[in-house]
Amino acid sequence: MKYMGSKSVLLRGELGTLLLQEAQNSTRFIDLFSGSGSVGHYIAENTALPVVSVDLQHYSSVLAGCITERDAKLSQSDVVTSWTGAVHRSLIDDPLYEQLQEPIARLGKATVMRARKKSSRFTEEHFITRDYGGHYFSPQQAYILDLLYSSLPSVADQRKIGLAAILHAASVCAAAPGHTAQPFQPTKKLLPYIKNSWTRDVIAICQKQVETLANRHATKIGKAIVADAISVAESLEPGDLVFCDPPYSAVQYSRFYHVLEGIALGGWPEVSGAGRAPARVLRETSDFSMKSQATEAMTELLETLRTSSCRVIITFPDADASNGLSARDIIHIAQEKWHVYDKYVDSVHSTLGGSSSAGGRGGRRALQEVVLLLIPKDDASLCVPEPQPSNYTEDGSSLASDGLLTEALDLVSTATSAELS
Ligand SMILES: C[S@@+](CC[C@H](N)C(=O)[O-])C[C@H]1O[C@@H](n2cnc3c(N)ncnc32)[C@H](O)[C@@H]1O
Repeated sequence: MKYMGSKSVLLRGELGTLLLQEAQNSTRFIDLFSGSGSVGHYIAENTALPVVSVDLQHYSSVLAGCITERDAKLSQSDVVTSWTGAVHRSLIDDPLYEQLQEPIARLGKATVMRARKKSSRFTEEHFITRDYGGHYFSPQQAYILDLLYSSLPSVADQRKIGLAAILHAASVCAAAPGHTAQPFQPTKKLLPYIKNSWTRDVIAICQKQVETLANRHATKIGKAIVADAISVAESLEPGDLVFCDPPYSAVQYSRFYHVLEGIALGGWPEVSGAGRAPARVLRETSDFSMKSQATEAMTELLETLRTSSCRVIITFPDADASNGLSARDIIHIAQEKWHVYDKYVDSVHSTLGGSSSAGGRGGRRALQEVVLLLIPKDDASLCVPEPQPSNYTEDGSSLASDGLLTEALDLVSTATSAELS
């Protein structure tokens, strides 16, 4: 599933290596801005650390927790399979499903408008059809998502996997540009994209995702919580390895993912406008996505983590971000109380559905990402050398000496293995 700022690609490279190396010196892994859950999944499946995933959004805790909160394959996966199978079979004689059929092969503006009208007559019991049918999903896709939602298995582990699979299918089928701020409108240019999305098979996608998730699990049981990163940071302990991948955009994540959040919550009281969004007061806001607050929020977070004596890994784009922060600022904030090691890795960033004006193609553009390792300066257990200067000169221009991080990691792991032997 596409998620803005996902680290799933970087994990296959140096970020993954660094996390595994640092995990060896840690007792718990805390993914403070867990998003799609990709980083927590990686650690949960590849190390013996329990993972705590934290995010402001409920859908994120579902996506993260469906793997990190389980330490065995789901042996009852056939029961979950029978869940999607039962929905599939029920469609055969369902008059409501039949009524919602639209000629998608000949999709035009009038058909889309009729689809919206038909869907809006549904009630709360079918909140996905009522709120999103004819907008993000075809009426029949939305109706199937409703049936899957209302018949989710009652056993907790199965239910979590089922809900994660519904979120995945909703994300893959939405007629929208990789997020759900707004659906595509039925213009001549966008109708082919709507058609393409509306012909995707919700049940098959959901079923495949259930099978994938049921086979994956953590080595040690962790937990996924909906909370603010700073409040959780207060309760952390030495031995915790904290991964911070904060937002870099000045636009709130809750604006881009309100459809997934609505599904995770079982529906919003009301949605409106072209985006079918809930009232602004109901959407979570993060100080990290506010230009006037982001620097203060980052300072407070690092201060709190410093008090908790954790080691921290931070990723941030190597460019001035729209929330007013830059990797250089983060280094500057951290330098007084931490040894800061930095590494530059190639990355690809979402332009939030933007086009080539942002210098990229298909809403993506190439960038460098900075990976920072922060070690408390008074952490006596780590025989690190005198603090290495950061890659930045005083005027803030980058010297980009990638060797520092690797060198520091080698020394840290050598010191740790010496202590153990
Ligand atoms: C860049 S994304 C993280 C992406 C994630 N690492 C991945 O691989 O999918 C940032 C996430 O931080 C969350 N977030 C923003 N402010 C937060 C806060 N104060 N506390 C916890 N999570 C927050 C957003 O909801 C979003 O999911």
